[in-house]
Amino acid sequence: MKMWSSRFKKELDSLANDFNSSIGIDYKMYKEDIMGSMAHANMLCATGIITDDDNSKIQNGLKNILFEIDSGELEINPMAEDIHMFIEEELTERIGDAGKKLHTARSRNDQVSVDIRMYLKAKIESIVIDLKTLIETLIEVAKANLNTVMPGYTHLQVAQPVTFAHHIMAYVQMLTRDISRLIDCYNRMNENPLGSGALATTTYPIDRFKTTELLNFKIPTRNSMDSVSDRDFIVELNFDISMVMLHLSRFSEEIILWASQEFKFIELDDSYSTGSSIMPQKKNPDMAELVRGKSSRVFGNLMATLNLIKALPLSYNKDLQEDKENIFDSIETVEMSILIFNGMMKTLKVNKENMRDKAKRGFINATDLADYLVKKGLPFRDAYKITGNLVSYCVDKNISLEELSMEELTNFSDLFEADVYKYIDLDYILSQRNVYGGPSPDAVKKQILDTKAYVDTL
Ligand code: ARG
Repeated sequence: MKMWSSRFKKELDSLANDFNSSIGIDYKMYKEDIMGSMAHANMLCATGIITDDDNSKIQNGLKNILFEIDSGELEINPMAEDIHMFIEEELTERIGDAGKKLHTARSRNDQVSVDIRMYLKAKIESIVIDLKTLIETLIEVAKANLNTVMPGYTHLQVAQPVTFAHHIMAYVQMLTRDISRLIDCYNRMNENPLGSGALATTTYPIDRFKTTELLNFKIPTRNSMDSVSDRDFIVELNFDISMVMLHLSRFSEEIILWASQEFKFIELDDSYSTGSSIMPQKKNPDMAELVRGKSSRVFGNLMATLNLIKALPLSYNKDLQEDKENIFDSIETVEMSILIFNGMMKTLKVNKENMRDKAKRGFINATDLADYLVKKGLPFRDAYKITGNLVSYCVDKNISLEELSMEELTNFSDLFEADVYKYIDLDYILSQRNVYGGPSPDAVKKQILDTKAYVDTL
């Protein structure tokens, strides 16, 4: 029997009932629903709308329900319409008439809006904590690799030398932006819609500031129609999570490349790799591949949420019930992905020698050789041309720039002197790229310090 059935002459078709039900998804918000109801009842009592006696029955009843769901004693009925109905019906079954008073001056429309905001606020807090842990792990990897020379790429072609630390710290910067975006989102959703009713508040003398305080919101929302139909915060959070996944996906792509036989820059730990059922030699980077793969579903969730809302007239429409499945899926996916990434990075082995060897190839010090000639007085374009000719010469001879003899060098320009070898040495080149934000070990040390200080303010 539906709570709202008195107006109807027939029961809901059973397939329609299943179609209408959202309990399979919104049961996750049972705690928030109960906390919201407790605050609502306390407010109703404080404003004289219900008696102390009724309120204490409601409070005790709800507390017991929460305790019993937490302990597994009370099972959430999968036949209920949604979590709000389930809790209210359960309460009324237990405490009788007092339970029937809980829904005074409230609608499921403001109830679901306050529940989901509370649920998402807590989730944002835990995602931020997980991201900070991942950042700490990455900083540890960076610290251990301040002098690990590696080829830096543009167009996936060897460009200029960097260090593994600098490369890893690039991802740390992305993740710090992700944290700040999540916190912005948290702050915008931190407004209390409870008291908006179905769409037009209520005639009861409720106190929305009271529930705002009790539920730890910053302020009450300012427009009841907006309050019950606004899902901006879900779109925003889906976007923010998409950005985290986008960053982890790019990172995954690099990890997959680096772990390949062609690169051999890193080796993933056995505990984060899988084998093949047919090829005995295989060690596959499945975790990274899955993070990359799962990101696409999260991006889909963002698109689905945008489309869900774009043509809805004010105020609440049942379409909005579809908002939860996507965002819950995005949250679970990003939570798992961050945890997996953290473990994978913690156990990763870096093949320092291999990285350095690869950096030596590909004429990574060509820009520095040109700069050497500029220091000796040549205009950059002329220096660039001579260096290009030297590279072409080396390609033909299959040698690197530092393998050129003094005689060979001076055939191209008489500005070359013995000190040229120092200027094109990889460690020297790196130590000279000492600009703020650059790859020199000293600059990266500073980057780590400043990044840590910034993350601490978030
Ligand atoms: N299960 C619904 C949802 O998630 C709760 C709100 C229902 N409101 C209504 N007027 N039918 O959106």
